[in-house]
Amino acid sequence: MSVRIAVGAQWGDEGKGKIIDLLSSGADLVVRYQGGANAGHTVKINDKKFILHMIPSGVLNKKTVSAIGNGVVFDYESFINELTVLNNEGIDTEERLFLSPYAHVVMPYHKEIDRAFEKVRKNKIGTTFKGIGPAYQDKISRCGIRVVDILDDDYFVSVLKNNIEMKNLTFESMYGEKNKFSFDEIYKDCLDKFSIIRKYVKDVSLIIDEYLKQNKSILFEGAQGTLLDIDHGTYPYVTSSNTTSGGVCTGTGVSPTKINSVIGVMKAYTTRVGNGPFVSELFDDTGKYLSEKGHEVGATTGRPRRCGYFDALIARYSVRINGISSLALTKIDVLGGLDKIKVCVGYKYNDQILREFLPVSNVLEKCEPVYEELEGWKEDISEIRNYNELPENVKKYIGYIEKVSPVEIVSVGPERNQSIYK
Ligand code: IMP
Repeated sequence: MSVRIAVGAQWGDEGKGKIIDLLSSGADLVVRYQGGANAGHTVKINDKKFILHMIPSGVLNKKTVSAIGNGVVFDYESFINELTVLNNEGIDTEERLFLSPYAHVVMPYHKEIDRAFEKVRKNKIGTTFKGIGPAYQDKISRCGIRVVDILDDDYFVSVLKNNIEMKNLTFESMYGEKNKFSFDEIYKDCLDKFSIIRKYVKDVSLIIDEYLKQNKSILFEGAQGTLLDIDHGTYPYVTSSNTTSGGVCTGTGVSPTKINSVIGVMKAYTTRVGNGPFVSELFDDTGKYLSEKGHEVGATTGRPRRCGYFDALIARYSVRINGISSLALTKIDVLGGLDKIKVCVGYKYNDQILREFLPVSNVLEKCEPVYEELEGWKEDISEIRNYNELPENVKKYIGYIEKVSPVEIVSVGPERNQSIYK
């Protein structure tokens, strides 16, 4: 029995979709534990490309059951859109996709508030406008609407009315706009949609417990990445959930003593979407090269991702915070063609050299990268399937990263089969 967590080790977009798809072939149950439709997991199977925002990527594996845990903020619009795509592709979801009754629901006003709030704040986060922050805000403020609440119409009506009243007051005082949100409109719009959702609702903590009792394998699927974690990330330029492995227990109702291992999904270089510090960011031709060759465009927002060299401080930090036991190293093929490859090994901050990452944006913004340089390679490695056949300099690069944690999987392209098990 294996109970593992797959977590993004940088700022998200590490290629978790593909790795989770691979790992889920050995898992009986795949569970998402945080985030919402801000995630964009891209999985390529043969000539088909799936981008999933809400439904766990594990659903693409026909033998695997998937579940959305209570720690997720549930976007019913995205969920229904993805259900339609999956069902049209012949992927059945009945009795193999479940939703926790205790997940909070992202309502239309959360998305509007996300947009409005971002407009007025000085230090813009660059959110995905999927209503993530406002939905988690309601959860913490104890006025959120959970999936279980939408199943009880009387209760739902009373909470929704009260919420809309409160949102309208806030909107009016902040933006001078009266009666921004209408109960009738929102209620009418969501009723039909909720009827589709009803049959997927089941206690996810109990499902996990059943699988554990039967010694079955479980994979917890992280969204975003370690440095976007609300506690351990580059605050305030983070998302509003615990993206790190610690989020699994609170976000699904599994006990920490049941988890055996954590696989960190780490890109062979670094990217970031949205604002915030990024010490090894490149503004030169190499940055452009990585961006173009790596097709570095956000799966959810279509925004170009900022690109930079691999940062060993981030890697070490991520291994420590998540308890990463092995790595899936992705997109290493993208580095091919560079003469030299730099790796960030320290941050110059005033007259000091920092060797440990610290989640303090205003310090990181003043840091300069300190690099070590490795030899590059010219070969196209995307067709190699055997570790021993990789060029020597690729192995040296992987060996360098292994100083931080052992590499279990090397991904050399977006397809399922472009993977090397080390
Ligand atoms: P939010 O999660 O939409 O509130 O956005 C907060 C920050 O997290 C922004 O910088 C987003 O660009 C970033 N972000 C959110 N989801 C993802 C993701 O799946 N990949 C990469 N960045 C993300």
